[in-house]
Amino acid sequence: MDKLESDNVKSLPIVWSCNEWDPLEEVIVGSVEGAIVPLWDDVAVQAIVPEHARWFFEKYGGQPFPDEMIEMASKDLDRLCEVLTSLGVKVKRPDKVDFSKDYTTPWWTSKGLYSAMPRDIFLVVADTVIEAPMAWRSRYFESFAFRNLIQEYFNKGAKWLAAPKPSMAGDFYNKDYSPETPYIGDEKQFVVTENQIAFDAADFVRFGKDILVQKSNVTNAMGIEWVRRHLGPEFTVHEVEFDDAHPMHIDTTIVPLCPGKLLINPTWVDKSKLPDLFKDWEIIEAPAPVFTNDSALFFSSDWLTMNFLSIDEKRIIVEENEKPLIDLLKKHGFEPIPIPFRNFYPFGGSMHCATTDIRRRGKLEKYF
Ligand code: NVA
Repeated sequence: MDKLESDNVKSLPIVWSCNEWDPLEEVIVGSVEGAIVPLWDDVAVQAIVPEHARWFFEKYGGQPFPDEMIEMASKDLDRLCEVLTSLGVKVKRPDKVDFSKDYTTPWWTSKGLYSAMPRDIFLVVADTVIEAPMAWRSRYFESFAFRNLIQEYFNKGAKWLAAPKPSMAGDFYNKDYSPETPYIGDEKQFVVTENQIAFDAADFVRFGKDILVQKSNVTNAMGIEWVRRHLGPEFTVHEVEFDDAHPMHIDTTIVPLCPGKLLINPTWVDKSKLPDLFKDWEIIEAPAPVFTNDSALFFSSDWLTMNFLSIDEKRIIVEENEKPLIDLLKKHGFEPIPIPFRNFYPFGGSMHCATTDIRRRGKLEKYF
C-alpha cells in the first residue's frame, strides 16, 4: 500500500474504510433470496452449528430455506436499506444468483449457500477490497454474487486483492476435530487445518493501522499471515484469542464503538486478559441478549445482540428488541437507531454481518 497517509479526506477514493465508526457513505447490503441450507454432513458446518439447530440441517440440508423465513428476512433487509438511504448512505445490493445448482471441483461437489453476509467475504482496508478465500464448500463461489459490484469499484480506481482459495479437499479439514471437545488441554482445536491458506473477512476487526484477528474454524494461521504480508509494514495485524469455544467471526466478541470505547462479550472476553493495546480504552460489557436459548439461531450464539452497524461515532443501528443494549448505548452517549431485524437472525448474523462498508469518511490513523 502506498500514500495512505493523505490528510485530504475531501477527495476520498471510491473504496475507503479504515475502522468501524467513521461516517458511513456507501455500503453493500446482502440478500437472502435463493438461500440454501448447507448439508449436515459438512464437517465445517457441524463445527459451529449449535446442538439445538441440528434438526434444521438434517431436515432441510441441500434445500432452499423455507419461503416464509426468506420473505420475513428480506423485509428486514429492505427496511435496513430504507433506513440507511434515509440517513444519506448509498446502498448497493448483490446480483441474484442460483445457489441451488450443484457445482463440482476436482475434489468434491456442493451447492451454494447465499449472498446474505458480505462482511464474511470482503475485508475493506483503506482503499483495498480483500476478497477472502473462505473455508466452507458451500461458500466457494459466493463472492461471484458481488463480482459486478466489486468490478465496478475496481473500474473506478479501487484496489482488489483476492486470496488464494484452499482446495477444500478432505485433508483441508481436521479429521480429529470434534465440536464436543474443542480443547485439548488448554489448546483450542479448529476444524480447518494449516495445510492451506484460509480466512473469512469477519474474523478481522479494523482499528485504523491496527487490525485484530482471531484464529477460528474458518481462519487459520496461514490466512492471517497472508493478510499481514499483503497489508505490509504500515499495518499491524494482532492475533487475539478469546473464550469462544467454537469461533467463527469476531463480530459478536469485540466491537469497537468509537476511538477509546470497546464493547465486549462478557462470556467470552475476560477484561483482565485483553491485549495491552486497550489499557487506556473504556471497556464496556454488553448486556445479556434478549433472545436467549433461541432455537431459531441456526448458525450462531445468542450474541447477535452485538452485531450492529455504526453509522458514525454516535449513531448505531441496532435490533429494536435489544432494549438492554439500547439503554446501555444511550447511557454511554450513543444514539441507537432501533429497527426490526430479528427475522434475519436465523441466517446467522445481524446487520454487521449483513453489510460491508465500502466507504467511510475519515483518515487512516493509529488509535493505540
Ligand atoms: N460465531 C459468532 C458470530 C456470529 C456472527 C457467534 O455465534 O456469536
